[in-house]
Amino acid sequence: MNTNLIETHDLWKTYGDETPVHALRGVDLQIPEGDFVALIGPSGSGKSTLLNLLGALDAPSRGRLHFAGRQLDYSNPEALVDFRRRHIGFIFQAFHLIPALTALENVMMPLAPFRRQLDFDLKERATELLQAVGLAERLGHYPGQLSGGERQRVAIARALINTPQLLLADEPTGNLDSVTGDEILTLLEKLHHESGLTIVLVTHDLSIARRARRILRMQDGRLLDD
Ligand SMILES: Nc1ncnc2c1ncn2[C@@H]1O[C@H](COP(=O)(O)OP(=O)(O)OP(=O)(O)O)[C@@H](O)[C@H]1O
Ligand SMILES: [Mg+2]
Repeated sequence: MNTNLIETHDLWKTYGDETPVHALRGVDLQIPEGDFVALIGPSGSGKSTLLNLLGALDAPSRGRLHFAGRQLDYSNPEALVDFRRRHIGFIFQAFHLIPALTALENVMMPLAPFRRQLDFDLKERATELLQAVGLAERLGHYPGQLSGGERQRVAIARALINTPQLLLADEPTGNLDSVTGDEILTLLEKLHHESGLTIVLVTHDLSIARRARRILRMQDGRLLDD
């Protein structure tokens, strides 16, 4: 537990040239392996920007990010794609499932192109994950045939298909009613407790944030002291 899974050093992100927006202004952050962090703060304070950098979906304008002790190298886009595929799971407010694919196919999708190189059966693993999120009876359903909570469960199973070290969740309960949102949180807590999965969760909802192990507050592109 002493090792930090994530360390950032003076992370800056500036969008645009003519009228630059400094979305992050020097973020220093340590996230130990096995942590469960909630990130809260006003709209526009930089939460999604930070989450995208933690998941290597985007590169910082300045500063460094270390993942499991290794500094991310932004000069090689293919290596970044590979890094994400190996280590990161992402879930979003709007689920981002593919409507023309069944629940099972959606979960298999991230690794489908690599199916032959895997040392496990992809369909079997996807089925197990859907069982684990309580959707054993919905494998063949399309997203349009699922409730919001069920769609987010499919998205969680999809995010876990690569056995990520880090699960990033950007307002995963934002489109759900409070009871369904609670159920999604219970599922994330279970993943955190049972498999020691490291989770960073962005939320506007304090009652959701309080269920994490610690809360980080952002304002104007900076992390406030605890
Ligand atoms: N692609 C982009 N191009 C230009 N500006 C951007 C871009 N993405 C974000 N920004 C700006 O950066 C700032 C931080 O945005 P970010 O999306 O990280 O905020 P947030 O804390 O996630 O807000 P919310 O709670 O509304 O989701 C905002 O001022 C936003 O307008
Ligand atoms: Mg956001």
